[in-house]
Amino acid sequence: MTRITDELVIRGNHIKNRIVMPPMVTFSFHGDNGSYYGEQHIEHYTKRAKGGAGLIIVQATSIFGAVDSTGMWSAGDIAALKQIASNCHQYGATIMMQLHCGNLNINELSAEEIRSMQMNMKQAAIRACEMVFDGVEYHFAHGFTLCKFLDASYNRRTDQYGGDALNRARVLTQILPEIRNNTHKSFIVGVRMGEYLPESKDSIEAAKTFEKAGIDLLHISFGMQPPTNPVPDGFICSPITYSGCKIKKEVKIPVIAVNEIRTEEQVRFLIENDYVDLVAVGRGMLADPDFANHVINSEPVNMCVGCERCFWFTDHTLCPAGKDK
Ligand SMILES: Cc1cc2nc3c(=O)[nH]c(=O)nc-3n(C[C@H](O)[C@H](O)[C@H](O)COP(=O)(O)O)c2cc1C
Repeated sequence: MTRITDELVIRGNHIKNRIVMPPMVTFSFHGDNGSYYGEQHIEHYTKRAKGGAGLIIVQATSIFGAVDSTGMWSAGDIAALKQIASNCHQYGATIMMQLHCGNLNINELSAEEIRSMQMNMKQAAIRACEMVFDGVEYHFAHGFTLCKFLDASYNRRTDQYGGDALNRARVLTQILPEIRNNTHKSFIVGVRMGEYLPESKDSIEAAKTFEKAGIDLLHISFGMQPPTNPVPDGFICSPITYSGCKIKKEVKIPVIAVNEIRTEEQVRFLIENDYVDLVAVGRGMLADPDFANHVINSEPVNMCVGCERCFWFTDHTLCPAGKDK
């Protein structure tokens, strides 16, 4: 039986337990001296690392500007991100950064625009590696730019980036060798994607394509739309979480499941029954920075109450769980 405290080794990185903080933009935080990232972010991530998370995936960070050091890649941002990585490492967490390509209409992008985006995708990974992050996760989920490439019903391109599963994943797989050549050998490259693209079989093909291309880790959330199908009897988590369990059966690389996982019982259920390799707890970890340690030690969790619209999207100080104002 796998235990939640069992380490998981990915490309030589020893992830100390099976509990992950998934990427979550901290909308109401502010940076310092004109930068996007600053002290508030450093404190936020350091707390969750101290709270026992095995893997922390820093929030969606735009790739645009990675080539020319503008936007989220200013000197101030880089200093803050470096500090986040260093502090999280001190507490024994593995740390990755989610890379985000905005919300473009991929059917209207020219070949030149795709190439330019790929240059930023690659450069952002190289910079994350230089900032001593252990890896990056490309955001292929939630209907954003990269998700639209992957979705067979959205992607109407007739060039090498549209058509079959190989082509739909090519925006990343094409640059993976360049990323590998410019990062150290233990640098993790992951993908966050959904299960229905638009059918389950499309996502299985996509997952296998990424695995074959050399992607190290899959994080399964939802694609263009959240799934609504019921879960099997006895499965105590959500349909999105079940998606992760389905993909896990199809690939050999590690898989993270996520969504509405709030209790020790759910974390243990998923890991101890080998449904998935890693469990990501988002709002639960916003409500309780010590979520991972509490679950590991079977202590009570300061529970996310599940607001209709999470206050962390607008003003985190209004979060009723309220420990982290
Ligand atoms: C405030 C907030 C910000 C989020 N930002 C991101 C993000 O940057 N990238 C991403 O892929 N998902 C993002 N998500 C989705 C979470 O990673 C996660 O998948 C979702 O909250 C479901 O998990 P949970 O029920 O454990 O919170 C965000 C969610 C919240 C609540």
